[in-house]
Amino acid sequence: TAAEKGGWSSFMAKEISEEPEAIAKTILGRVSDGLVHVPELDALGDDVLRGIDRVLIIACGTAAYAGLVGKYAIEQWARVPVDVELAHEFRYRDPVLSTSTLVISVSQSGETMDTLMAVKFAREAGARTLSICNTQGATIPRESDAVIYTHAGPEVAVASTKAFVAQITAMYLFGLQLAQARATLDDETVRGLVAELQEVPEKLTKVLEVGDRIRELAHWMADTRSVLFLGRHVGYPVALEGALKLKELAYIHAEGFAAGELKHGPIALIEPGQVVFVIVPSPRDERSLHAKVVSNIQEIRARGARVIAIAEEGDVAVLPHADEVIRIPLASPFFEPLLAVVPLHIFGMELAAAKGLDVDQPRNLAKSVTVE
Ligand code: G6P
Repeated sequence: TAAEKGGWSSFMAKEISEEPEAIAKTILGRVSDGLVHVPELDALGDDVLRGIDRVLIIACGTAAYAGLVGKYAIEQWARVPVDVELAHEFRYRDPVLSTSTLVISVSQSGETMDTLMAVKFAREAGARTLSICNTQGATIPRESDAVIYTHAGPEVAVASTKAFVAQITAMYLFGLQLAQARATLDDETVRGLVAELQEVPEKLTKVLEVGDRIRELAHWMADTRSVLFLGRHVGYPVALEGALKLKELAYIHAEGFAAGELKHGPIALIEPGQVVFVIVPSPRDERSLHAKVVSNIQEIRARGARVIAIAEEGDVAVLPHADEVIRIPLASPFFEPLLAVVPLHIFGMELAAAKGLDVDQPRNLAKSVTVE
């Protein structure tokens, strides 16, 4: 009903507006003295956190992309090898697991059958299991050794938005606590990262102001048949998520690519007028990924692509190369996905709206898929 939507045109519009709050609430009560302490992780204990030699993240859909962001962070901070796998693939390929493997499932609903079956499988194989879940008391957390609840609040729209940023937040809290337990980061470094994470909700509130501009873009693109998304490092899962939203909501063919992969195939898709969203890493990034992505943009533009760049405020180097630039506030690399994904969530929703589609209830999809 209209009242439930709180004055918004759809549940999705309301839920996107709640993305900053979803992050803030997921952090709440889990930081003390500037360091991370997630009380629910006591169920696993520091000995287990120190003893694991591998992390495997299993999920489906948007949750799997949050898992991919988590992989980059956990590996970098806690120096443990991390893999991400779609739950339905994991279970049917006889994976190697041991008691020192931690399997992390990510699920908004906590009821996705593919993910649930993978968790049960992992437990029976002797692995430790941690659930990242948005629904109190759901089946997956009940079947797991420990749970970190995301506090995004109930998500009604079928396609996931605020749960995604909350899942990434929970992944980061876990990665930082793991790094503390394993002493792979010093306290000052953890404090710095925690402080930056705590600043994200406020920055994201500013990002939400781009909504009107994105609505305009979506309106002139209502007839577009294909959209590509490019990103690198943690911008890569953001590209995948941007593409999934367009498929789910606007029924448009969309694909996300790792920008470095462009020359190995996808560049052949570029023809005049092809719209490409590019998530541009910060020019301050010391690995010079910014220059590499700008060069990707030049290559596709030379072939006629229309480039919409999502780039940091003050990044002027990108301006001559993009048809449109959507700005996000300054943040260090791991916090960029939380800021960059929201314009893509808005874009998916606005394009669906421009096509006259039901953004909350896309055809053929279910909020929680409880069959295999
Ligand atoms: C469904 C939804 C997706 C969601 C996926 C995983 O397919 O349409 O939006 O990402 O399930 O759901 P979960 O509840 O496990 O996060």
